[in-house]
Amino acid sequence: MLRREEIHGALSAPALESMNFLNEIMSRYPAAISFAPGAPNPSLMTGLDLNHYIERYVEHLETARGLERDAARRLLCEYGPSRGIINDLVSQALHRDYGLDVAATSVVITVGTQEAMFLVLHALFASPADVLAVATPCYVGILGSAKLLNISIVPIPESADGLDLRRLAEAVREVRASGRRIRALYVAPDFANPSGTTMSLEARRELLQLAEREDLIVLEDGAYGFTAEPGFEIVPLKALDVSNRVILLGTFSKVCMPGVRVGFVVADQAVRGADGTEVLLANMLAAAKSMVSVNTSPICQGIVGGMLLEHGVSIAALGETSGKLYRQNLLHLLESLDRELSGVKDVTWNRPKGGFFIRVTLPVPADFELLERSASAFGVLWTPMSLFHLDGSGDNEMRLSCSYLTLGQIEAGVERLGQLVRSVQT
Ligand SMILES: Cc1ncc(COP(=O)(O)O)c(C=O)c1O
Repeated sequence: MLRREEIHGALSAPALESMNFLNEIMSRYPAAISFAPGAPNPSLMTGLDLNHYIERYVEHLETARGLERDAARRLLCEYGPSRGIINDLVSQALHRDYGLDVAATSVVITVGTQEAMFLVLHALFASPADVLAVATPCYVGILGSAKLLNISIVPIPESADGLDLRRLAEAVREVRASGRRIRALYVAPDFANPSGTTMSLEARRELLQLAEREDLIVLEDGAYGFTAEPGFEIVPLKALDVSNRVILLGTFSKVCMPGVRVGFVVADQAVRGADGTEVLLANMLAAAKSMVSVNTSPICQGIVGGMLLEHGVSIAALGETSGKLYRQNLLHLLESLDRELSGVKDVTWNRPKGGFFIRVTLPVPADFELLERSASAFGVLWTPMSLFHLDGSGDNEMRLSCSYLTLGQIEAGVERLGQLVRSVQT
């Protein structure tokens, strides 16, 4: 028998328990309409010819890298370099989509963004005095990685413009006064999970100025940028970064499929040793990766590589069809909420223009008790926003995700939410 107190504390954290409880409720009410999962729409993954994409990538290896056919196919079946095999395609795509000039050697292909987060935090947070700043509410993936690595977190409230920069500047000073330092800030500037908030161009510039002034590293998570309406995209922080302090984290989970578990990190910063020698941060991350997952599945990289090649080596083009579907779903969710809940006292919601998520505020706590009632009496599920808040706020908020449902399910689900909300009206 093992003793709980001898197991790493991160594995007993209340957030993990809550997540288990959420999964458990979902499994008990399989027929409920669920606004909980932030997963890609099942229709986008139906009928995909995976062999075709692998074949496309193999052809690329033959023509672009001059490999014999058998050697090209074998490359996908063997162990591979820790840094990845589709780095050149990712580098080209980032150039095509955002004008980013990052060499393939600065890219590490990871097992989803999740591994990239773990590797980056592990590399950057060498001292217990280093603190990670995050927006609250915050994506659980980064919080979980930080907890596993015993990294202290300071929450920065979100503003309508993404992040309360005045509060961030204060936090930098406060942490410094306590003898520690904010080493890095994690931010998802496009349609954040869970709040749906987007940072304006102006706010992005201000954040980078602040980061430069206070010597912060910025971890930019670009998971939902592809859902922006064409012509209304805002450039990534990485493309505005003149002092090379942004590390870009990317994922193919949403534009392709989460089952491939392929993501990437762009870490083009030089790391200088005491003797003056320099190593690229990407090389250090790849070395660490070799001791975490050895390498990202080459077969899965082949699928993603083939998909990129089929779409002109552009992540934006790859995400065009799915981006359109998500915008349609989001609009339908907003219109359904307008129809069902407009004018209901003390019920409000934000209006993101992209991403998967909407934040709804109720006049009563949106807690697990209400969720249980919502599921059993009304057949509708959602996520309590308090799970994502680090400062004890968000009790009355729910996160609705539009990504996994059909238009009909969204409409029916919001009708059920309307019944729930009216049932708790005082
Ligand atoms: C903010 C954010 N980043 C990244 C991801 C993707 O993570 P992964 O690439 O590990 O699937 C998600 C998925 O939910 C997310 O919401």
